[in-house]
Amino acid sequence: MCITVIGSIHVDFYIKVDRFPVIGETLFGKGFQIFPGGKGANQAVGCSKLGEKTYIVGRIGKDFSEYLLNNFRNSNVDTKYLKIDDEHNTGVAFIILNVNTGENMILIDPGADYWITENDVNDALNAIIDSKIILLQLEIPIEINIYASMLAASKGKKVILNPAPVSTLPKEIFKYIEVITPNRVEASQLTGVDITDIPTAVKAGKKLVEEGVKYAIITLGSSGSLMVSLEKAIYYPPFKVNVADTTGAGDAFNAGLAVALSRGYPIEEAVIWANASAAVKITKIGAQTGLPSRYEVEGLIRRSADYQPKII
Ligand code: RIB
Repeated sequence: MCITVIGSIHVDFYIKVDRFPVIGETLFGKGFQIFPGGKGANQAVGCSKLGEKTYIVGRIGKDFSEYLLNNFRNSNVDTKYLKIDDEHNTGVAFIILNVNTGENMILIDPGADYWITENDVNDALNAIIDSKIILLQLEIPIEINIYASMLAASKGKKVILNPAPVSTLPKEIFKYIEVITPNRVEASQLTGVDITDIPTAVKAGKKLVEEGVKYAIITLGSSGSLMVSLEKAIYYPPFKVNVADTTGAGDAFNAGLAVALSRGYPIEEAVIWANASAAVKITKIGAQTGLPSRYEVEGLIRRSADYQPKII
């Protein structure tokens, strides 16, 4: 089975720094690099690198079309349903990476991402029908996400929504979503629960499940992640790795989750895969270039013999 990712496609302009600038300050960087990026594109490349046939649905401008199409080609992502927008620029992200902590600050201009239409989604119906999993994020208009999730659910597909960057979600979308994957800040904003520890994260997860999703998986950065369903809550500790760049950790997590679910792994095991995928990613620089292969994810899981999720 395949995976269809509907979402943003960017060019990322990275500047490395050894501390973040303060307002009004001009700071010299420690190096500049251009990478392919965008949460949609990263998640699609992530799924493909992990070995699943993957489609990307979205829009790019003419300005970077050759660069991005080549990149998708090299990553084996099917671009049959990717549109080139004649009027708008490709979405871009300016990323400041703190090389000492691996933390980032990101500024986005969505450009063509925001011009995706319902017709673009309809045109990709064959990809949706071919797929077991449809993976969405919030860097395209929310109306398109609602439409895509409704269409996918009506075809019996599992929809994963990564609600990043955070926004308020209309209630109706929850009934089409099987799995929602906010980070701590997003989960707090979506539920109104101030997440300060595992019990408050469980409380937020339960609220999301009450909204209608089957599984709420909250990523907690260096503290691991948490899966909440109607029946249970499981805490997943982080894998121990050296952090180089946390940019794209969420994308690696969602790609790992989508691939594991597409292969029919039970959710409990799929979350281990997602955690391991994010852990490998953060050891490398570049949101997309640092995404792991299946071999790397399985290697980390194998080496972490004492890794033990905990039922809450
Ligand atoms: O999740 C990381 C991504 O967020 C970057 O690639 C950037 O383009 C932004 O969309």
